[in-house]
Amino acid sequence: MDDDNRVTRRRVGDAEIRRANRRWWDTDANAYQAEHGAFLGDVDFVWCPEGLREADARLLGELAGRRVLEVGCGAASCARWLATQGAHPVAVDLSAGMLRHAAHAADRSGVRVPLAQADALALPFADGSFDIACTAFGAVPFVDDSAALMREVCRILRPGGRWVFSVTHPMRWIFLDDPGEGGLTAVHSYFDRQPYVEQDETGVATYVEQHRTLGDRIRELVGAGFRLVDLVEPEWPEGHDGIWGQWSPLRGRLFPGTAVFVTEKRGQERGAPRPR
Ligand SMILES: C[S@@+](CC[C@H](N)C(=O)[O-])C[C@H]1O[C@@H](n2cnc3c(N)ncnc32)[C@H](O)[C@@H]1O
Repeated sequence: MDDDNRVTRRRVGDAEIRRANRRWWDTDANAYQAEHGAFLGDVDFVWCPEGLREADARLLGELAGRRVLEVGCGAASCARWLATQGAHPVAVDLSAGMLRHAAHAADRSGVRVPLAQADALALPFADGSFDIACTAFGAVPFVDDSAALMREVCRILRPGGRWVFSVTHPMRWIFLDDPGEGGLTAVHSYFDRQPYVEQDETGVATYVEQHRTLGDRIRELVGAGFRLVDLVEPEWPEGHDGIWGQWSPLRGRLFPGTAVFVTEKRGQERGAPRPR
């Protein structure tokens, strides 16, 4: 297989996706943290390459005393920051390699949070056991059945609990993954839901990332039992010249790179007292 066929868009079976996903994040953990660890910090909550911080955005609401699940935590810097705000976080990730970085960062920073290896599609927690769930680019783009992931997160939240997650903005999928001029021309249909796939010389997937349109995402959230509170599209800040993969100042000035979905589990009307 030549290099041109190493990257494609095609349907991939569930078992192949799981295998690729786990292997990719275990193998890539060192490179990911070496490349992005300084930007993400050891104790910080950064939502996206645009640099939006939870300390400024306050998308999760009140944190003190809240039980928070970070899904697809990577090195869990968000969970450690949440702990410094008085929350009670638990951080889970599919990848043992990523969780090793989380353990090292806990040693470095002295901020410790419970860590567990778990698939976001089968969270090892009781119904209604968290007030808040969140992730910055974790898990959601990497599962085929993201509607099932939304239902699973909804299950572990109490009524009225928040689920806030960032993903690549769906409109980015019409462009090539290029931070430069090559990433300014539309080449793919927004409506093509086939995942982005990197594959080895035998055609076996090594990395799979899923595209959902804005409408798809809202339908799966509402179908799972959430209501949409906000959809944040962070703008590229003046003076930020960092490049993260396909994110760059050039593209960031023209169109959004990240979508942050802010949702609440239905069943707790505004104004009614909230269980603690
Ligand atoms: C782009 S990284 C983001 C990590 C971290 N949130 C951050 O901001 O650096 C994606 C993470 O999602 C995790 N992940 C992928 N699929 C998952 C799944 N099905 N369940 C739980 N975690 C998953 C990966 O292991 C990886 O750590």
